Amino acid sequence: MIKRTDYLTKVYGIPNGHTIDVYEREVKGYQMARKVLTSMTKEQVIDEAKKANIRGRGGAGFPMGVKWSFMRPHPTKPAYLAINADEGEPGTHKDRTVMELNPHSVIEGCIIGCFGIGAHIAYIYVRDELHLSKARLEGAIVEAKKKGYLGKAPFGKDYSIEVYVHTGAGAYICGEETAMLNSLEGKRGEPRLKPPFPAQSGAFGCPTTVNNLETIAIVPTALALGGEEFSKLSALHTINDGGVRLYGINGHVNKPGIVELACGPTINELIHEIGGGVLGGKNVLCVIPGGSSTPILTPDELVHAPDEKNPLHPWDGKSVFDVPLGVDTMRGVGTMLGTCCVTVLAEGTCPVLAMQNLMQFYRHESCGQCTPCREGGAWLDHTVDKILDNKATMQDLNQLHDIANNIMGNTICAFGEGTAMPALGFLKKFRPDFEAYVRGERKRKDATLTPV
Ligand SMILES: Cc1cc2nc3c(=O)[nH]c(=O)nc-3n(C[C@H](O)[C@H](O)[C@H](O)COP(=O)(O)O)c2cc1C
Repeated sequence: MIKRTDYLTKVYGIPNGHTIDVYEREVKGYQMARKVLTSMTKEQVIDEAKKANIRGRGGAGFPMGVKWSFMRPHPTKPAYLAINADEGEPGTHKDRTVMELNPHSVIEGCIIGCFGIGAHIAYIYVRDELHLSKARLEGAIVEAKKKGYLGKAPFGKDYSIEVYVHTGAGAYICGEETAMLNSLEGKRGEPRLKPPFPAQSGAFGCPTTVNNLETIAIVPTALALGGEEFSKLSALHTINDGGVRLYGINGHVNKPGIVELACGPTINELIHEIGGGVLGGKNVLCVIPGGSSTPILTPDELVHAPDEKNPLHPWDGKSVFDVPLGVDTMRGVGTMLGTCCVTVLAEGTCPVLAMQNLMQFYRHESCGQCTPCREGGAWLDHTVDKILDNKATMQDLNQLHDIANNIMGNTICAFGEGTAMPALGFLKKFRPDFEAYVRGERKRKDATLTPV
């Protein structure tokens, strides 16, 4: 059952909700940061963060508290907190709402995060075109400094904390955490080989934690409620996916938007109870669960969980659209939760055109470092184009699988998988549509991405 909450979003609807006065008055803002700095140890902070079971909101779903615990003090190097607000994933626009409407939650999260991991500086990496986001974050930093919450001795504690906004230049790859770190250092936004991981060698070669913007913004709430209580808010807390988060619903629905919910709504609930149903009363063709890099799901797919130890067991035999959205539950049905922003494609949408649309994006955004990604992405785009022009053969169609499979696992970063997985998903689930173009039964001029 869907449960609306407003820990992050209460101030969204209040006039001047982005200011420090409203944040402190309406949601007891900065009280948790004060408590952390004046009466907690960093070990206690990390312990609460672990209990909160916050899975990273940037796409990979790594447990946040565990990531913080990887930070070890270095004898000579400083530590950094780097907040990822690049948000370039098609269909994902949740972090932007936090930056514009509740920037102080981000600054308070940075204060707590810096203290927890032993850092004195946090960088917030924001994509350049988000002008209001940058202005609101900068404004929040100025306000927090004036009150003495940032600077040499925040809340009177001898532990300096500074937060800086750093602008990117609008490259999707700069959202990949190590590309972001390179960009932050003024280098080309190209991903680095891992290991070393950022906790060992991140920004400027120093130990660094990279957190998504929403991940850090929910920290004050999680600690104020207490890690365990926060975790229990979720319908999925027993399977390690705690608390509340922002969900997006986009595409062919009547009411697209962003909403804050207890973790674990289903796709059907998001479409009907939040999104107001499919445009024109149509059926769903498929959904892209969490940003364009995640494999699609169709409504006729059923859960197959024969094993009692499987977290999906309670949903065995049900539609995948009725499975609560969680990091592990979505893995169990062959896709990923990703950024939790679901894109709905209504019946009548051409899946071949939809795939081409995505392949154009990935071809354009590949940084070009790895041959399988650079060449494979271009080849995927080119071949789907050929299919749409009725110029492809069945051999070309089969070759698409080979190209996508050869990208998987053969690149420095997960961008390659982000290209190949949706491609393979469309090919597997809509093979007859691709074949119809090869046989010349369908024409590009009749294909549409907006059937309603
Ligand atoms: C191509 C690519 C783009 C990414 N874009 C973003 C992004 O815009 N924002 C983000 O937080 N994470 C993004 N990620 C995931 C980050 O690499 C990283 O996992 C995340 O920032 C860690 O934060 P979290 O643990 O709080 O989720 C991207 C990953 C890849 C491979």
